[in-house]
Amino acid sequence: MFFELIARTMAFFRSLFSPCGLLFGATPMIVIRSCQGQAELEACVQLQVETWGYDPTDVIPRKAFLVWQKVGGQVIGAFDTEIAGAGDEGGPESLVGFVLALPGIKFGAEANAGAAEPRPYLHSHMMAVKEGYRNRGLGVRLKLEQRKDALKRGIRLIEWTFDPLEIKNAFLNIHKLGAVVRSYFEDFYGVSSSRLQAGLPTDRLLAEWQLDSPHVLAILEGGAKNSLVVEEVIQVPATIYEWKASEAERERALAIQMENRQKFLEAFSRGLAVIGFVRDADGNGSFELGHPTQLELN
Ligand SMILES: CC(C)(COP(=O)(O)OP(=O)(O)OC[C@H]1O[C@@H](n2cnc3c(N)ncnc32)[C@H](O)[C@@H]1OP(=O)(O)O)[C@@H](O)C(=O)NCCC(=O)NCCS
Repeated sequence: MFFELIARTMAFFRSLFSPCGLLFGATPMIVIRSCQGQAELEACVQLQVETWGYDPTDVIPRKAFLVWQKVGGQVIGAFDTEIAGAGDEGGPESLVGFVLALPGIKFGAEANAGAAEPRPYLHSHMMAVKEGYRNRGLGVRLKLEQRKDALKRGIRLIEWTFDPLEIKNAFLNIHKLGAVVRSYFEDFYGVSSSRLQAGLPTDRLLAEWQLDSPHVLAILEGGAKNSLVVEEVIQVPATIYEWKASEAERERALAIQMENRQKFLEAFSRGLAVIGFVRDADGNGSFELGHPTQLELN
């Protein structure tokens, strides 16, 4: 009884300083689960706006979240249960991250391995973690929950696009999760009001996450092959973030984007794929390209 009282008192004081644990340096108790009800979906919409700063024409509305979840997609949230009043499972006021996926179908050659039947997969459209909660593993946990839910339903592939200039996202997608990339889309979305896009063309790489492949299993278990033959490297300097954020220097970011666009397109046309990603001590990133046949992707 005495210890329970102490624990409750400490939890109360921690909750006064949310985002939790920041003052005490502790990791908050985060629950990862499927979002439920209109209020939680609306909290995802608000976090979307907070993250990207979209104008109303670009915002994905609550109704779209609702429908995609209903027809076989996913809306998975991260909830900080130490926020005052959040309860054991969290709720709309304690949502600190989400990932949104749509159901998709591949046909014919795209269905992979010449399968005669159409193949279901998920297209993960958006993931956000609230500032102040980043770099604590929540992004990885949201993706792992996506994977678990997909496999439970017999879905073995999740794809998503990402900005080739975003070093952090490339590190997360390729190095930590084991996604492979073999497609490049030039100015995929057209004009975007995203703050993170900074007015640059919306070029995107396509991440293919073969959920139960030996390659992905090895990466998730921390045992990636270190004997891969890397034929080419495409680099992104750490200063890209500053260049994008400054109007005076944005041209330099654009120049890197255009140069790398050509390199990716050319390498993919020769059958190469992004099979690895490394960052150096200064935060510069390098996409490693080689033949995907080296990886066990099925
Ligand atoms: C992308 C995002 C969801 C990741 O969430 P997160 O909770 O910070 O991710 P995690 O903590 O699980 O993993 C991030 C990894 O990247 C690393 N990282 C952080 N900054 C980095 C950088 N500049 N370069 C390379 N790696 C970086 C972290 O160290 C961590 O790796 P580690 O666990 O080995 O240390 C979050 O940063 C975000 O919301 N960004 C804005 C929106 C966005 O870009 N969404 C993705 C596209 S839809």
